[in-house]
Amino acid sequence: MENILNKVNTVSPANTHVLRCVHCHAVQSRPDPMFRCTECTELLEVVYPELNATNMEFGLELKKRWKERRTSIHPEDLSGVWRYRELLPRIAKEHIVTMGEGNTPLIRLTKSAEALQLPDLMVKHQGMNPTGSFKDTGISMAISMARSESFEAVCCASTGNTSASVAAYAARSGMKSIVLLPSGHVARGKLAQALEYGARVLQLQADFDGCLKILHEVVRKLPIYLLNSLNPYRLEGQKTVAFELMEQLGWNVPDHLIVPGGNLGNSSALGKGFVELRDLGLISSMPKISIIQAAGANPLVRTMRENGGRALVPVHPETRATAIRIGNPASWRKAVQVLESTGGACEEVTENEIASAKAELGAEGIGCEPASASTLAGLKKLVRSGYVKSGESVVLVLTGHMLKDVEYILQQQVRSLPPPMPADAVSVLRVVETLQKEN
Ligand code: F0G
Repeated sequence: MENILNKVNTVSPANTHVLRCVHCHAVQSRPDPMFRCTECTELLEVVYPELNATNMEFGLELKKRWKERRTSIHPEDLSGVWRYRELLPRIAKEHIVTMGEGNTPLIRLTKSAEALQLPDLMVKHQGMNPTGSFKDTGISMAISMARSESFEAVCCASTGNTSASVAAYAARSGMKSIVLLPSGHVARGKLAQALEYGARVLQLQADFDGCLKILHEVVRKLPIYLLNSLNPYRLEGQKTVAFELMEQLGWNVPDHLIVPGGNLGNSSALGKGFVELRDLGLISSMPKISIIQAAGANPLVRTMRENGGRALVPVHPETRATAIRIGNPASWRKAVQVLESTGGACEEVTENEIASAKAELGAEGIGCEPASASTLAGLKKLVRSGYVKSGESVVLVLTGHMLKDVEYILQQQVRSLPPPMPADAVSVLRVVETLQKEN
């Protein structure tokens, strides 16, 4: 105990960690470039041997220290990732790449809360990150690792948001970035970001899964650091949203946490974050973590339904929620574990259900991208099925900013936009008067 506290008191993160296979538990001395287990090819996770023992005193000290850092002037204290560095791999301060990621608002819904009889319905809006999606928390962590290992170039396959984040953080750290995108299936806001931040953008005639497969060959042959969520350091950054959320809720654990599922890194990261808080005694119960997929890109739903989570059922993905247009998710095993250990549900929602949920959020002044709105669409189904009960507390994780995909909105809302009209006050007054009478 004495030992651990002395160590975490330093400015730079103090935890030693190992990379361990999630399946056969083999500890990796040198991870392969795709971060797959050298024994059984499954994914790896970061484990902190020194933090294994539950220790109340240590937990209380952490809560205090994390709170104090919010008033600091140092970027690594103000970051919603690095503020929690006692539970992250050790990185020297000069290698940390941060833009104040995390620190995203928790907002209470009103209209949807009333309609669903859930007074404690909230959204954790991760679209408020520096590049407009939850990816920034993970990329800040993993790119700092790349920097500390002296890489000069980083890469990812992406449905758009990862590429925007990778491009921005690479630019900040003076590294080259190469991003592989599924041609024609990336929202233009995300493509524009990757270009503006100076990434080498390659649009492939393949879906996300095809892009990731090609990237496999690239990182095997060239010294380029992989920043997809196969990289276990990504999930370390992303798990910090669990810590931040608990601080925002005064350490009262919500009954349900609902997250969209694509490559399934985010749900895995959230689950890991909550498990670590519980193991350290910072929380005494776990939220049920539920994962929502688009009906046209539902490999996890099918996996759970058809074989109880034992073997992945890949699908050919198709959905207008392009962020989650993924048929062969890398982290499916980790996600199954999260569902099983928290008692979460796995549900699919149609394109229409996503569109209406998105419009409902919009009408409350909460913008998000289609993939994020799948959480509200899923919640409605879970309320109807009786899985979420009236009065329970629910947090929806909104993963991306509304402006990422404005074309989607304009197509949906095209009928709400009246044609151009003459620029004269009389015509405008006439319309405004009619509007006033409407309500
Ligand atoms: N929501 C948004 C807005 C996303 O961009 C993604 C994934 C997800 C949800 C799903 O998260 O993959 O961790 O299950 N986007 C990745 C990308 C695949 O390349 O930007 P996941």
